[in-house]
Amino acid sequence: MQSFQDKVVAITGGGSGIGRETALAFACKGAKVSICDLNEGGGQETLRQIEALGAKGYFTRVDVRHEAEVQDWIRQTISQLGGLHSAVNNAGIDGAVAFTDEYPEESFDQVMDINVKGVWYGMKAQLAHMKNHGGGTIVNIASVAGFMSLPRLIAYVASKHAVIGMTRTAGVEYARFGIRVNAVCPSFTETPMVSHSLDYPGAVLNVEKMAQINPSKRIAQAYEIANAILYLCSDESSYINAHPLVIDGGLSVV
Ligand SMILES: NC(=O)c1ccc[n+]([C@@H]2O[C@H](COP(=O)([O-])OP(=O)(O)OC[C@H]3O[C@@H](n4cnc5c(N)ncnc54)[C@H](O)[C@@H]3O)[C@@H](O)[C@H]2O)c1
Repeated sequence: MQSFQDKVVAITGGGSGIGRETALAFACKGAKVSICDLNEGGGQETLRQIEALGAKGYFTRVDVRHEAEVQDWIRQTISQLGGLHSAVNNAGIDGAVAFTDEYPEESFDQVMDINVKGVWYGMKAQLAHMKNHGGGTIVNIASVAGFMSLPRLIAYVASKHAVIGMTRTAGVEYARFGIRVNAVCPSFTETPMVSHSLDYPGAVLNVEKMAQINPSKRIAQAYEIANAILYLCSDESSYINAHPLVIDGGLSVV
């Protein structure tokens, strides 16, 4: 895959899982990598790993629910690293696990604030810069839950449907500025989040069972999602826009 030498990429939720793996994959390809995360320790650890690869990095603690913090992080990214060429809106949570009629409103609001408004705030800041600086690429992290059901996760499912809708809308709106906006839609991927979604009282699924129902007989590794994100950010995908790319080992067409 092409080099990202001297390109600047900004990743939300870079302190863990898919966000960290994506940050390190970009760093391996020569990019300067800015991450933000609510988790200070996780973010600092990713920054340490980026710098250990010989790449330039930047981390700041941000809660993506607060637009001013997201705007400030993107401003700092541009001034510290010298621009913004790609962005990955990845920060997300799964929320409470409960049937629809019992789902707690507080958790519903929290999931929507992080997974939907957080992605929108990210895109707002990124698009405003990119449209005046020759374009760029954005990848939002949706999920197979963006077009399938996941029982007991109504807020998460609603939020990921919304991410796909926002991706399509922004991709169409900003193509004329040389900006491509795509999404990836992973199925279960080995990260701290997946342990949380499968590990609750009365759970009938676990990682082994999820692997068994998948045609590929395993769940995804975070680097496999990262590889697809890099592809969508590269010139090699230059005519792919407003597209939700499914990465699920074949699960959704069984
Ligand atoms: N793991 C999976 O099976 C899977 C499948 C499909 C989609 N996804 C999506 O991938 C993305 C990354 O998930 P992951 O599995 O790597 O999970 P993770 O829990 O390992 O990482 C998520 C990161 O987001 C950060 N974060 C959460 N709330 C935040 C906030 N308000 N502000 C800033 N940062 C915040 C967390 O601190 C964490 O570092 C999420 O959007 C998730 O919905 C995950």
